Amino acid sequence: MLTREFTVKRIQALRPRLEEIVAAQLDGMEQAGQSADLIRQFTFPIASFAIWELLGIPCEERAEFQRLSEVMLDASLPMERRMKNYHETLTYISTLIPGHRENPGDGILGRLIREHADNISDQELIGVGCFLLVGGHEATAHALGLGTLLLLQHPEQLADVREGEEDVLRTAVEEILRYQALIHTATPRWATRDLTLSGQVIKAGDMIVTSLASANHDQGFLQDADTFNVKRPVSRHLAFGYGIHQCLGQQLARAVLKIVFPALLQRFPSLRLAAPEGDIRYRTQGFVGGVESLPVAW
Ligand code: HEM
Repeated sequence: MLTREFTVKRIQALRPRLEEIVAAQLDGMEQAGQSADLIRQFTFPIASFAIWELLGIPCEERAEFQRLSEVMLDASLPMERRMKNYHETLTYISTLIPGHRENPGDGILGRLIREHADNISDQELIGVGCFLLVGGHEATAHALGLGTLLLLQHPEQLADVREGEEDVLRTAVEEILRYQALIHTATPRWATRDLTLSGQVIKAGDMIVTSLASANHDQGFLQDADTFNVKRPVSRHLAFGYGIHQCLGQQLARAVLKIVFPALLQRFPSLRLAAPEGDIRYRTQGFVGGVESLPVAW
């Protein structure tokens, strides 16, 4: 049911709205001063607005989710607090379902109801909403944060991306995703038969956790794999996983990254780090990598 909602064509239709969202967020930052924490004031709001848009949740209902996602962002909180927040998110989404049943809009929730009303329960709709929000939002936000940091560390390549030429953007976004090792491991797989991989014996029933980051930096997979090069011809990478369970939201993530980088760099041509590089703290907990905060000035 969901795969159809993530086709290139469907995501393309969202593009004008995504561009408006990015421009409005940049306006807000520009009006607020000459520096910001890019993670809190830009990448997280953008990532959550994009998913709200995809789901079809109207703007006026987003304030509560912003509060919940602030908690989600804080990796230092104990697991119980984070789980409590997850359950609050589920409860919150459940309050949105009756309105969608009554008046199905054009987002995923509305479309699922219109096309499969009798075959999809409220519980399933809540699950879809929550899974997409929690799964997609954090990864996209940190991909934008780490991507901006990478570009600031490579000013000549940043200049190429700022131009916003479609060909460069296409390769740059793939290279940023490949290089940054955002999600270190794929979801676990279980071997269905005995096999030997690189000399390692794996028994049927064994759980396998593969390192996507390691694969993406494997010299046997890609020449000069540890060099960041936004003009590298588009290569296969495993940032979105592999096979039938590879990332469902990858076209949305690509669209957001392609819109955001040139828009941010054109709006603030003098964008620079506002803290010494050594002070930038990387996340050490959680499924998604990234930086805790990204102080920038312009
Ligand atoms: C840069 C941003 C993102 C990255 C790097 C990313 C990466 C991943 C990875 C590595 C997996 C596991 C794939 C595997 O085990 O083979 C995954 C699964 C998934 N992602 Fe993403 N993701 C991103 C954004 C999103 C967004 C925006 C959404 C939804 C709106 C999303 C929805 C999902 C879903 C539903 C799955 C589970 C697919 C399945 O098990 O069949 N992701 N993602």
